[in-house]
Amino acid sequence: MRTVEVIRTIAAVREWHRAAGDVGLVPTMGALHGGHRGLAERAAREGTAIASIFVNPTQFGPNEDYRTYPRAESADLELLAAAGCAAVFVPTVEEMYPPGDDTRVVPGDVASRLEGAARPGHFAGVCTVVAKLFGIVRPARAYFSHKDFQQLRVIQTMVRDLAMGIRVVPFEIVREPDGLARSSRNAYLTPDERRRAVALSRGLFAARDEWARGTRDAARLRATVRVVASDAGTPEYVSVADPVTLREIDGHAERAVVSLACRVGRARLIDNVLLGMSLEELARL
Ligand code: PAF
Repeated sequence: MRTVEVIRTIAAVREWHRAAGDVGLVPTMGALHGGHRGLAERAAREGTAIASIFVNPTQFGPNEDYRTYPRAESADLELLAAAGCAAVFVPTVEEMYPPGDDTRVVPGDVASRLEGAARPGHFAGVCTVVAKLFGIVRPARAYFSHKDFQQLRVIQTMVRDLAMGIRVVPFEIVREPDGLARSSRNAYLTPDERRRAVALSRGLFAARDEWARGTRDAARLRATVRVVASDAGTPEYVSVADPVTLREIDGHAERAVVSLACRVGRARLIDNVLLGMSLEELARL
């Protein structure tokens, strides 16, 4: 049976890294699912892989689910071992944010809309912890799902602007057989909410189908998503934005990321489809 080395301190990661050499990092908050498994398998295929599991308090707002966020360490370790990860960094909050910690990485314009507007301070928390993980693990590659599309763009931009020299690898969204994007927060859904939640991906797929039939009008794509997704609830936003800048598109779209956020019961779910741009092109940004 495969095992994964569990490392809990920064000093021990540095020690491990000396022997491991060139590594790929899969940052996670745990409660891992098939989406994370895909990321970890890809990282392991491309070299020595290390994951991190850390529910990062600085990226949660005061009324968000930091305390109740699902935690499942032993199942996570099994998944990471099976996926071929060599090691996993599982720090405490004190290890990551010791007394006196006083620095934050504050992203710019690309973080200001959509999730950034809905969750003030969220991306500063994400950038701070990811920059810190990069500084601790010193990976050559880091793997992120494009399910959190804006997060991926914020991190790509941070890596470029701060000359971090890390290859950010975008990974496809892993979905349930009915289309719902896999998310640790799906665990909050009751059976009835789970049935309704599928309308979110259906809305996005309806826009993707319209795109395939030639529709390029951003307002029409937004309207299609709204109509179909409304079976799940009223989305907080439906966005048709430029995939590079995340600015809303007015009129004709050459390429787009169509995204939404919607509360279904206790879960706030996000999802997106990328149109007119491949993951390879996204990786090259
Ligand atoms: O996507 C996540 O799980 C988190 O935002 C990340 C990137 C691990 C930072 O805490």
